[in-house]
Amino acid sequence: MREMTTWERPFCGALRAADAGRRVELVGWVRRRRDLGGIMFVDLRDREGWVQVLFPEEPLKGAAAALSAEDVIRVVGTVRPRPAEMVNRDMATGEIEVVAERLELLNQAETPPFVVEDSVNASEELRLRHRTLDLRRPEMMANLVLRDRITFAVRQYFHEMAFVEVETPILTRSTPEGARDFLVPSRLSPGTFYALPQSPQLFKQLLQVAGLGRYVQIARCFRDEDLRADRQPEFTQVDVEASFIEEEDVYALVEGLFHRIFPLVGIEPPRPFPRLSYAEAMERFGVDRPDMRFGMELVELGDVARGCAFEVLVKAAATGRVKGLVVPGGAAFSRKQLDELSDLVKPYGAPGVLWFRRTAEGFGSPARKALGDAGIEAFLAAAGAGPDDLLVALGGPAKVVFAALAALRVELARRLGLIDKAKHAFLWVTDFPLLEWDDDTKRYYACHHPFTSPKPEDVALLESEPARVRARAYDVVMDGIELGGGSIRIHDPGLQRRVFAALGIDEAEARHKFGFLLEAFRYGAPPHGGVALGLDRMIMLMAGRDSIRDVIAFPKTTAGNCLLTDAPNTVDAAQLAELKIRPS
Ligand code: AMO
Repeated sequence: MREMTTWERPFCGALRAADAGRRVELVGWVRRRRDLGGIMFVDLRDREGWVQVLFPEEPLKGAAAALSAEDVIRVVGTVRPRPAEMVNRDMATGEIEVVAERLELLNQAETPPFVVEDSVNASEELRLRHRTLDLRRPEMMANLVLRDRITFAVRQYFHEMAFVEVETPILTRSTPEGARDFLVPSRLSPGTFYALPQSPQLFKQLLQVAGLGRYVQIARCFRDEDLRADRQPEFTQVDVEASFIEEEDVYALVEGLFHRIFPLVGIEPPRPFPRLSYAEAMERFGVDRPDMRFGMELVELGDVARGCAFEVLVKAAATGRVKGLVVPGGAAFSRKQLDELSDLVKPYGAPGVLWFRRTAEGFGSPARKALGDAGIEAFLAAAGAGPDDLLVALGGPAKVVFAALAALRVELARRLGLIDKAKHAFLWVTDFPLLEWDDDTKRYYACHHPFTSPKPEDVALLESEPARVRARAYDVVMDGIELGGGSIRIHDPGLQRRVFAALGIDEAEARHKFGFLLEAFRYGAPPHGGVALGLDRMIMLMAGRDSIRDVIAFPKTTAGNCLLTDAPNTVDAAQLAELKIRPS
């Protein structure tokens, strides 16, 4: 009963008032069937949404009555405007309906394990196990379509900017991004392994030495790290590298891209993006990816703590940091809410928080005995806390204080409704430290990667005060999420040697790990730099979702499992034997 070719056939969800009068062939899935006053209605769903189809008379009506949810059907009919009282303005196809003349059942569906609706209340586990049905839900399908449209616009932008897309290897050797590698055993050279790329970092630098000039790749990356809502073991980067480029060129390039793609979902990024140094971001927000949609910045309490009568705080100020947060309206917190504050910081290694307030009953704080009313008042004054506010304070090692207060700030903002979801905050974080000291292994690590260039004005400190050297590295942040990061690279072998030395990487190790890169750099490496943007995270924010799992067709759980295919799984002994791997 085909009346149209596949390429002429409209999508059910794309029919509009302007299509009235059109005779159409539609295919799709039965969303639901209703019998209203002797007329049979079927909502017919496809990728673009659904449309109401009417079966007014026998024998069609009887055939439609036998349909159940998720049956696959073909319908031929005519589009007509709905009667005025039946118009549904909440629905894209709500002004029209299709009066069916023919119906063909293409396949019958069994009762699905959950109802295919956006309002689904099935667990995520069940949804991932039956991902095909989950993706059939309009909002999930819309996310996939959005992802395609945005990826297309990204490619178009870089093409216009004279970038060339190059594919780099998936079977490669370890790349220096700092996470654990996924390894692939080699059958042809038993005992050796490929590593899946954590990013195409080294290849994109090699392409600059080759003279490509402007490289882009929508690149799949693999990292064996702990997973969470914005982290998957395999994810996609918009990976960029260019020669003869400086920080300002990168900022202009990425801002230009964001001005191209974010308006596609109604988000207008600022021009230019605000910038914050790493040091300032840490002092004001406790984190290098601050959510700047709301205030509640950290306050400095070091001075008042040093002079106070509470021994714990005096000591914390002397050996670490004492900082706080002023919670608007927090003076009215219940005992339970106050106790919860301490629970919220415990995962960050803090024993708990101190709080200070002035209520109708007078000053209050767990440290009141030591501090007295005047002491509490001194803290409230130093923090600029108003009469209705609560001051939350934390003292200890800088790392713990920053991390705990940063997390507390975001959680409290969420609970107090301080985050306006319609607002978005983009920014650049700049001037990251080049190196980070690790107390466990007693050595420095590269904050970004070992090829990141130090700032020229800090190079002289590389040997004397390595911790103070700032990098030519930058991150782009939106709504408290790191969307991307990159740097201007080292292209001078002498400087690279000094950075390796600061990292405790000797000649032999450098040659073993990155010899191929250093070798290539000997024959005319241009100054170069780049950035990589997390595509999944960008699409997540554009789609207004809280997890990148919702914008990846077949994601893994936080335990790294694919519930649909049951990967990872055991393999045949024969397969292992071929690889010369003995099961443990
Ligand atoms: P970086 O490691 O900062 O830089 O990664 C760049 C961006 O990739 C995204 N991202 C992830 N997204 C989902 N799941 C993950 N597990 C994950 N890990 C990272 C983030 C992040 O900002 N080669 C350098 C870039 C460069 O220097 O040019 C790199 O990979 O959005």
